Amino acid sequence: MTSQPAPAARISIELGDRSYDILIGSGLLGQADAYEGLPASTSALIVTNTTVAPLYLAQLKQALAGRHAQLHEVVLPDGEAFKTWETLNLVFDALLGHGCDRKTVVYALGGGVVGDMTGFAAAAYMRGVPFVQVPTTLLAQVDSSVGGKTAINHPLGKNMIGAFYQPQRVICDLGTLATLPERELSAGLAEIIKYGPIADTAFLDWIEAHMAGLRRREVDLLAHAVRRSCEIKAHVVGVDERESGLRAILNFGHTFGHAIEAGLGYGEWLHGEAVGCGMVMAARLSQRLGLVDAAWVARLTTLIAAAGLPVVAPVLDVADNAGRYLALMRVDKKAEAGEIKFVLIDGPGQATVRGAPDALVREVIDASCAVA
Ligand code: NAD
Ligand code: GLY
Repeated sequence: MTSQPAPAARISIELGDRSYDILIGSGLLGQADAYEGLPASTSALIVTNTTVAPLYLAQLKQALAGRHAQLHEVVLPDGEAFKTWETLNLVFDALLGHGCDRKTVVYALGGGVVGDMTGFAAAAYMRGVPFVQVPTTLLAQVDSSVGGKTAINHPLGKNMIGAFYQPQRVICDLGTLATLPERELSAGLAEIIKYGPIADTAFLDWIEAHMAGLRRREVDLLAHAVRRSCEIKAHVVGVDERESGLRAILNFGHTFGHAIEAGLGYGEWLHGEAVGCGMVMAARLSQRLGLVDAAWVARLTTLIAAAGLPVVAPVLDVADNAGRYLALMRVDKKAEAGEIKFVLIDGPGQATVRGAPDALVREVIDASCAVA
């Protein structure tokens, strides 16, 4: 990472008695005052994984030592392929094994996989215990740690088993991004890019202008990107916490993307990679429906490629590729009575959620895949 640490920013997410703050800054994870005001229960459980534990667990434990007399930890196997019931059970085993009670605070230390599973465990354990998100990937800082969606995967569908359950705070330490592998950084950039087309064209311009610096991990640029992304997400979630309408726009690129993830097998493509390519496919579908022009699709495709993300979709089935995509997309949570709903772009910084004729979707899949 280059340049000086940015000062911490605080964004509030307004949800009545479930409102909370997102803190963004360098070095926050190890600073005791970042946790001030959170419940200081006797016991706490930190949930992390085998990759993140050696990097950041000691710092977090040190910061929390004065808050909880009994500080437990559970270290999960790493990877999207482990976002399962079996892994979730390891968290329950730890909570019960350590005699954790209803006041126990659960901390999620890691990327979106750890965050989503920990949130679900916190929602379910004794019907709900407080939890805190300490996201350590760019993707988790700009998206998954904010807004209270928690889940595990099912072999038949991505994030299909879960709950809405808000954290008590989100603590984004930009310093953790220094150790993130290049491919994971690009995956996070996909979710940052997403906010431009759906909500903020000025932000899209800014991302285009600063892509090289973002990929060099210039901390002031990362700070702005995380802050603006969280501001947009906080607004959308504040309006529509449980996705009865507006919140669906946050799934731009995800309908195609989830099909890629499930179709290839979880973990083959990163979530952000699938979303990046999925945004290209959704943009093409928007164009075929006459909502945007070819120049706009080309612009978005160039930006996604510049982020280091794939823009050619994988073949999921050599015999009936488009059919396989369609079958997987019908399992999407937005689907209604088997009709697939897509998040499409229909104006500058504006998204709409609607169905599309299968024939048109097939054309997009054929045009987007390496070999169709
Ligand atoms: P991830 O959690 O798998 O993390 C990516 C990799 O980076 C992992 O190997 C992890 O161990 C490692 N890692 C984490 N922090 C690191 C660090 N600081 N340095 C080095 N390595 C580090 O993946 P992700 O991209 O963070 O999250 C993807 C998941 O988030 C998917 O399951 C997706 O469905 C979910 N998601 C949820 C929401 C939501 O609203 N809840 C939104 C978007 C995505
Ligand atoms: N990542 C989509 C949402 O939070 O709604």
